Amino acid sequence: MAFTGQLAVVTGGGSGMGQAWARQLATNGASVALLDVNAEGMATTAAGYDAIYPFTVDITDAVAVKAAISDIETQLGAIDRVINAAAIMPFGRLADEDPSVTNAVMSVNYGGLVNVTTATLPTMLQRGYGDFISFSSMTGIIPGLLMGAYASSKAAVQHYSEILYHENRDSGVRFCCVCPPAVATPLWRQAEATVVPKLPSKGETLTPDEVIAEVERCLEAGKPFAYPGKQTKLGVMMRRFFPGLVWKASHDAEGF
Ligand SMILES: NC(=O)c1ccc[n+]([C@@H]2O[C@H](COP(=O)([O-])OP(=O)(O)OC[C@H]3O[C@@H](n4cnc5c(N)ncnc54)[C@H](O)[C@@H]3O)[C@@H](O)[C@H]2O)c1
Repeated sequence: MAFTGQLAVVTGGGSGMGQAWARQLATNGASVALLDVNAEGMATTAAGYDAIYPFTVDITDAVAVKAAISDIETQLGAIDRVINAAAIMPFGRLADEDPSVTNAVMSVNYGGLVNVTTATLPTMLQRGYGDFISFSSMTGIIPGLLMGAYASSKAAVQHYSEILYHENRDSGVRFCCVCPPAVATPLWRQAEATVVPKLPSKGETLTPDEVIAEVERCLEAGKPFAYPGKQTKLGVMMRRFFPGLVWKASHDAEGF
């Protein structure tokens, strides 16, 4: 069944896929609460929509997340869908990367998901209704050179999401963890500010709408993982059966 709920919470709703999804939901009549550190981006998302509500929150702050979710429930009602899209993506060689950067990636991409899950999911489980969506990445399945911090955080998101699904699979809440390849969003600007790995650009680049459509399809089909894009499932198979070939492609692309 398609989403028929009234209220969605979107982390990272000030940019990229979170922004696109928030607008899509609001266009279809839902209210949408955004959680992001990017107030300007959230204002852009909300421009022209009466029912998009920005909340400036750093998702690494568990207390602030809990307070914001409590405010949202009081002001807007019960939450029917949570979309965990917030992330950061600096790249670099692990041995050279400042540990504060490597740890910040895990703290936002994985720790933020943990904070939002514990602030929102228990109520959804009690109601026995809702959609819970997390964003992993192809890099969570296929690790590559220069993507260590990000890929590790997305692998953690994947395991966490899979276990979350199995612990609650008979609850009435629908779960989907999406593992996109490259998607045309501002996230890549962060990579451009650090190092740009060459391998992802050799594959396909999707639009946010293509990724969102595949997640909606998987939610309706009861599939806990979504692999949008034509090359993605092939990549998953290659990693499983021919990991040496996948690493060879990464070494060949980067030249070391
Ligand atoms: N773009 C891609 O190529 C790609 C590929 C695979 C997976 N993903 C994943 O998809 C999701 C959406 O990515 P996107 O491309 O739309 O990214 P984006 O950079 O366009 O948007 C991410 C948003 O997260 C927000 N954010 C960052 N740190 C935060 C924090 N501590 N608290 C609250 N908000 C914070 C940013 O301000 C930004 O608005 C991410 O989880 C990303 O890892 C993206």
